[in-house]
Amino acid sequence: TRCSTGTSHGKIILMGEHAVVHGEPSIALPFPAVEMTATVCEAKGPLTIDCSYYNGIAAEMPEILESMRTAIHSAMAELQVSDENLAISLASTIPAERGMGSSAAVSVALTRALFAYFDKPLNEATLLRLVNISEKVAHGNPSGLDAATASGDAPLFYIKGQPFEAFPLNLKAYLIVGDTGVTGQTKEAVSSIAAKLNGKNPQPYRDAISRLGTFALTAKSAIEANDPSQLGELMNQAHAVLSFLDVSSPDLDRLVSAARFGGALGAKLTGGGRGGCMIALARNRSEAEKIEEAIRQAGAIRTWIYQMGGTEDV
Ligand code: MEV
Repeated sequence: TRCSTGTSHGKIILMGEHAVVHGEPSIALPFPAVEMTATVCEAKGPLTIDCSYYNGIAAEMPEILESMRTAIHSAMAELQVSDENLAISLASTIPAERGMGSSAAVSVALTRALFAYFDKPLNEATLLRLVNISEKVAHGNPSGLDAATASGDAPLFYIKGQPFEAFPLNLKAYLIVGDTGVTGQTKEAVSSIAAKLNGKNPQPYRDAISRLGTFALTAKSAIEANDPSQLGELMNQAHAVLSFLDVSSPDLDRLVSAARFGGALGAKLTGGGRGGCMIALARNRSEAEKIEEAIRQAGAIRTWIYQMGGTEDV
């Protein structure tokens, strides 16, 4: 049988989640430790989709399946093909709905697989435009950051409406990533912040969003100056502001505190929040391993250690 595949990977937002939706700067990193493959094969009859990957949460979150269908149909409309005689399957190691960009990664992989199957070139602008259609179904009001980071190889500095800026991570440090095991609620979190900004007393929330933007900008300088302590401090402050915006959760707070007690330079939630993953910063691998152990003790169901650019072990 004729088959084609498309791939993508996870993403970690270092700074600026949620604020990026409202025009503030953000920094995100590709996270190739977890990846997604979509396969499109020739078949007989109506379209079939094998998404066992999403089985556990599909019932709770119908918008996920809806966004997957939207991704397939947007790509097909662009390709001007019908969905007859195709079997699509997805295989993934990206935990679903845990702030690692799985919804964007699904759409990126599906779009790439369909374009490959129909032998049509796919440029970055078209890919991001198509993925944005299904991300609207998944998230309501996506900034575009997840799609760009899940499809590319470079860390990105991004302000909505401006071009993505590839951004070298010249920082001698390690990130520890911890999964609470609890499904996040990006769509609800994004819309609850929008409600606060449009509510009766928006000023404290506007200030919070602009502080998150300032942290992201300062973090960029801290990385350029190879100053992990300053970046860690900014991560701690960002977590406090994200908590004020009510997008943290008791599980996230517990892992963040455990990381700090375990010696992290800083720690915060990452991505949509209200569950999902947190990140912590360490100077070297042995400190990173101590922090990893601390967050496992505090209940992280999975952890990863991510070496940032230029690190040499000491
Ligand atoms: C979700 O991974 C990141 C958010 O900033 C939403 C977005 O940028 O679309 C919360």
